[in-house]
Amino acid sequence: MLSTLETRRNTGQQEPRPWKARATAELASARSRMLRMLEGLPEDALTRQHSPLMSPIIWDVAHVANQEEQWLLRALGAPALTDSSFDALYDAFRHPRASRSQLPLLPPARAFAYAARVREASLEWMRHLPEDSDAPLLRGGFVFGMVAQHEQQHLETLAATLQLMTSHVYRPATLPRPRTALTARHEVFIPGGPVRLGSDTPWAYDNERPAHTVDVPPFFLDAHPVTHGDFAVFVESGGYDDARWWDPRGFEWIQAQGIQHPLFWEPQENGTWLRRRFGWWEPIPRDEPVQHVCWYEAEAYARWAGKRLPTEAEWEKAAAGSDGQPRVYPWGDAAPGAGHANLGGDTWGPSPIGSYPAGQSADGVWGLLGDVWEWTSSTFDGYAGFRSFPYREYSEVFFGTEYRVLRGGAWASAPVAVRNSFRNWDYPIRRQLFAGFRCARDAR
Ligand code: AVJ
Ligand code: FE
Repeated sequence: MLSTLETRRNTGQQEPRPWKARATAELASARSRMLRMLEGLPEDALTRQHSPLMSPIIWDVAHVANQEEQWLLRALGAPALTDSSFDALYDAFRHPRASRSQLPLLPPARAFAYAARVREASLEWMRHLPEDSDAPLLRGGFVFGMVAQHEQQHLETLAATLQLMTSHVYRPATLPRPRTALTARHEVFIPGGPVRLGSDTPWAYDNERPAHTVDVPPFFLDAHPVTHGDFAVFVESGGYDDARWWDPRGFEWIQAQGIQHPLFWEPQENGTWLRRRFGWWEPIPRDEPVQHVCWYEAEAYARWAGKRLPTEAEWEKAAAGSDGQPRVYPWGDAAPGAGHANLGGDTWGPSPIGSYPAGQSADGVWGLLGDVWEWTSSTFDGYAGFRSFPYREYSEVFFGTEYRVLRGGAWASAPVAVRNSFRNWDYPIRRQLFAGFRCARDAR
């Protein structure tokens, strides 16, 4: 009995929910976002290599569909649409991103048609599956959640490709975002003590499992992410030329690359800064979280400010709340709504800090989910007791290398792919991500 109660509390859901309705809705929401993002792009923009860091856009489209075919059709016993030799084209481990435009990829019309055919077949196949199976792939609809999250993660990656693209102006219509005049900045004291990290919710990834408790010493965390205005002070006071603030590897790297400011910033004659946001040039938005900084830049700023980056355990403790109540999101267990956080991609940029009072954590930390990913000081590793599921290449092959963990999700991340326990990771030099940071410091 106790264990049942425990499970309920930990999943953060009142009632076990039938998963098919949610799976259908999440798959549909991912696909309509894909079509919304890409409609109207000329053939050349879909097939060309925009950056060595990114795949041709149409590779992502067919890769997402191929992944769906592998997991929602073949792995679940449905008749295949292609044979597995086709998978090699869209296997991320077989071909580096920079070489993918040389592959005999499906041309755009055929890639979209393939994706539509797979979707039709997987929804049809889902109807024959039991709602209450205990098979690992099907329990709670896991593999459907995995595929929906995968598609959304690739759509965020595509947003980064669109931001990097220079051969074609991608100028999305932005939705009106709340603008506040918040200027007061503060730190929040997070008392030390145990925190439950990770998740046993049905759609959590293997790298979030098993949920476990660790002890975190007391610390202070910035109530808001570092803004463009904050970061400009660091830039303008010579922060990029002063080795004292930098990890030596980072300093060497920015010097070699000639990096003097965040990606997409452009200095003006009169000493101010413009930055490019998709097809728009605008003064750096001083009240928005800084974006497109790498881990080295984040870490250097923090040292300059007399602080440091939080560990991922500290970040998750701040998100979970120090009162020990389990929460899926900083505000509780309610699914992310428009008032909670800037998520889902349609705003095409972060909101000013302080825009989401309803999204605060129990301790009063703002903006933990949405707006920008937040770099942490942690390298990416498996939790004690980690078991790869359902395939090693999602998480395990990246453990123990130089990747750093990011938490919280960005404006371009979908609600289905963010939660307090969600872990993202990338190299410490990567700047195309919709990533910023907030600072922490020891409380004793
Ligand atoms: C979790 C964002 C690091 O894009 O490399 C997509 C997600 N994994 N396809 C990535 C992913 C396989 C992954 N990140
Ligand atoms: Fe993928």
